[in-house]
Amino acid sequence: MDREHSYDISGELYNRALNSLAGGVNSNVRLTETPHPLFYDKAKGSKIYDVDGNQYIDYVLGQGPMIFGHSPDFLLQAVAEASESGQLFAGQHLLELEAAEAVKSLVPNAELVRFASSGTEAVEAAFRLARAFTRRNVIIKFEGQYHGWSDGVLFNTAAPLTPLDSNIFPEVEPMSEGIVDHSESALIILPWNNFEAIDAVFEQRGNEIAAVITEPIMCNTNCIMPKPGYLQHLKKSCERNDSLLIFDEVITGFRVDAGGAQSLFGITPHLATFAKAAAGGFPVSILTGSKEIMSLIGTGTVMHGGTLNANVMSMAATKSSMEHLSDRAIQTNQKLQDLGKRLMEGLEGINSRLEAGMLIQGPGSVFAVSFTDGREISDYRSHVENSDPDKYALFVSEMMKKGIRINSRGIWFLSESHTDEDIEATLSAASEVLQLIKL
Ligand SMILES: Cc1ncc(COP(=O)(O)O)c(C=O)c1O
Repeated sequence: MDREHSYDISGELYNRALNSLAGGVNSNVRLTETPHPLFYDKAKGSKIYDVDGNQYIDYVLGQGPMIFGHSPDFLLQAVAEASESGQLFAGQHLLELEAAEAVKSLVPNAELVRFASSGTEAVEAAFRLARAFTRRNVIIKFEGQYHGWSDGVLFNTAAPLTPLDSNIFPEVEPMSEGIVDHSESALIILPWNNFEAIDAVFEQRGNEIAAVITEPIMCNTNCIMPKPGYLQHLKKSCERNDSLLIFDEVITGFRVDAGGAQSLFGITPHLATFAKAAAGGFPVSILTGSKEIMSLIGTGTVMHGGTLNANVMSMAATKSSMEHLSDRAIQTNQKLQDLGKRLMEGLEGINSRLEAGMLIQGPGSVFAVSFTDGREISDYRSHVENSDPDKYALFVSEMMKKGIRINSRGIWFLSESHTDEDIEATLSAASEVLQLIKL
């Protein structure tokens, strides 16, 4: 029997919010929550509570940052202690140095580091640096990948499919009104995991290309893993053409491995961007790269600023997160991986038993679920053509009623505080929901 599930108080607050916040929310992504954006008032460990008193096992985890679970004591304590001595000095402080050293000790490409507050900003900085370093303009971006909401990159995250062959690349489609004119001319959009497409574009326009940006695992579309050799191929293609490879590790960073996907796959990009799991919910993003490239920022040739960059709270959270991840006794990443794999295998078992038509894929610490007839989704096109978003939306709302909070966009995040009991409860709810929505 389901607990009685009501969203009345959230509903009232949401209606009130519509009068003071545009759309009632502060990020458009939050508009997709069902039955409407909910209000939460408490979160601890793997659990989150809404204002109607509903408790959920949380796999949204703030869209990824809460790698240690909600409100981890060690992190809160570090932030509280550090902020007693000040919050923002507009000058240097020891914590930012220690945080940078801790990032360097984990991330292979981090010869030099810069901190900012959001993933969007870190990507902006990476683009500017790549263009300045190569003295070229064009960036290659892949269909279905998201790198933040800035004018230079908010294209083809969820675009309609345009025809494709080795000479015709997908049309560049803005994902918002109001983007500055001509910013699309500085991008080439390609299908991901497609060796021929990258070869063709470098052959035709190699001398214009400043950089290729990629999520090393395509977490923003169905958590697609790179085909064997694909990331190596991207790196070689870039190096042959004096272009830079940028890994956007905003989701994969510190999550799929303490050193990010670059550590997991053993491929060192020229530049990389991190955010989310860098600081357990505090606003931090990180740009990392080689000394040669990053020194353009260091000398002031390339401008990078930010009033709130490296504020005391964020740096205490980053340092504390990095220390926690480095501590081999804790082995956070292994735990995330093991829990995720167990959940994926359990879902797969239910899926085969009920013939529910679910596809579960991804590395484990983060993974995706979709309803599809396909046995594999390997790029954005196969995702759009084969998956059933309406069925997934129904699955999400029924799971919510059973106290399991999952993301409407198909991505599941694990934290160190999820337990075996959480996994069992989730599988039992999924089994009931899948039987229900099959009827
Ligand atoms: C891969 C990737 N890059 C960049 C961003 C933008 O980060 P932020 O929302 O912190 O600006 C996101 C956000 O989800 C992301 O998933």
